[in-house]
Amino acid sequence: MRRWLITGCNGYLGTAFCLALAARGEAVFGIMRAQRTAPTLAAHGIPVMDYAALPAQIAGGDIVVHCAALTHGTAWEAFERVNVSWTIELFAQAAARAAVFVQISSIAALGYANRPAPAVLDEQTPPQLLPGELYGRSKLAAEQALVRQAAGLPLRLLILRPGLIYGGRAPQSRPRQRGLLVDPAQRVPLVHLDSVCDALWRMGDHPTLAGTFQVVDAEQPRLDELLALKLALGLIPALPRRIGPAGYRVLWALRRLRQRRWPDPALLAAELAHHCRQNTYSTTALRQATGWQPACGYVEGWTRAAAAEQEVAHAR
Ligand SMILES: NC(=O)c1ccc[n+]([C@@H]2O[C@H](COP(=O)([O-])OP(=O)(O)OC[C@H]3O[C@@H](n4cnc5c(N)ncnc54)[C@H](OP(=O)(O)O)[C@@H]3O)[C@@H](O)[C@H]2O)c1
Repeated sequence: MRRWLITGCNGYLGTAFCLALAARGEAVFGIMRAQRTAPTLAAHGIPVMDYAALPAQIAGGDIVVHCAALTHGTAWEAFERVNVSWTIELFAQAAARAAVFVQISSIAALGYANRPAPAVLDEQTPPQLLPGELYGRSKLAAEQALVRQAAGLPLRLLILRPGLIYGGRAPQSRPRQRGLLVDPAQRVPLVHLDSVCDALWRMGDHPTLAGTFQVVDAEQPRLDELLALKLALGLIPALPRRIGPAGYRVLWALRRLRQRRWPDPALLAAELAHHCRQNTYSTTALRQATGWQPACGYVEGWTRAAAAEQEVAHAR
């Protein structure tokens, strides 16, 4: 029986993958650092192991899903070490046993800079990354290194690039502050957690599929549309204060100086590209290859999130 080995199983997406695959009757093993705990997986009887145990565990036919990654930070060396070098090490372990390797990448690998409008980015779109887009650069470098390593090997390499994942999280206390709005026209390439889990299962379950696939919702709303919905659902206390790129530059520099860090123009440019992005993303490749469809639209997804939050509030 094939097994799914999920790295980063104590994280948001790793936990969801383990639960979703187990619910489909798949054999699942979570992998995480030795010092960590995964109470949700334990409650569902899903076994976990640490990375030291992994090489001896992998067998031919297994599907290794590399979900663990550094997602925040300002040091390129850390992104390179965790998201690129370590990914290649894990791939070598999977390749040694001819296991399927699924790399959880991100649409960030394409870069958030605006292309000539209207731009719908697909898997063939050339990446366009600013020097300060450290996370995206590390995800792209990992993708490219994996494709090089896998060339000519008798194994399947699958790369899944999700958009901004939402849903399924334990409801958190509502933000008390209003927040800041740089560009109301920013596009938000959301994807519901259930849609990402379904995409992973379909890709891994396919007997011959290999390659890179994006997964985002059909609707990728403007930020002002999303904020209006969240306000109506009571998920935010008020609409954020609009400051625009110029105001953001000033506040960002002041924040860095308060933290005794010199403002780095490359990081600022990357943050502004993120806040002002207009691109949308295609999922044609995934749909055609696997029959995948989004689990729900963003209005239904956020309405469900609000209902879950209210349920928890009432239970308290
Ligand atoms: N969430 C999103 O919207 C989104 C969108 C696109 C792509 N992704 C991708 O999805 C994957 C999971 O993201 P997430 O949102 O679930 O993040 P998360 O909740 O922060 O989980 C990250 C996982 O990576 C592990 N990890 C981080 N640094 C590590 C290191 N140095 N050594 C070993 N393990 C390490 C963490 O383990 P520890 O607890 O031990 O640190 C944790 O299990 C990532 O590859 C991310 O790039 C996420």
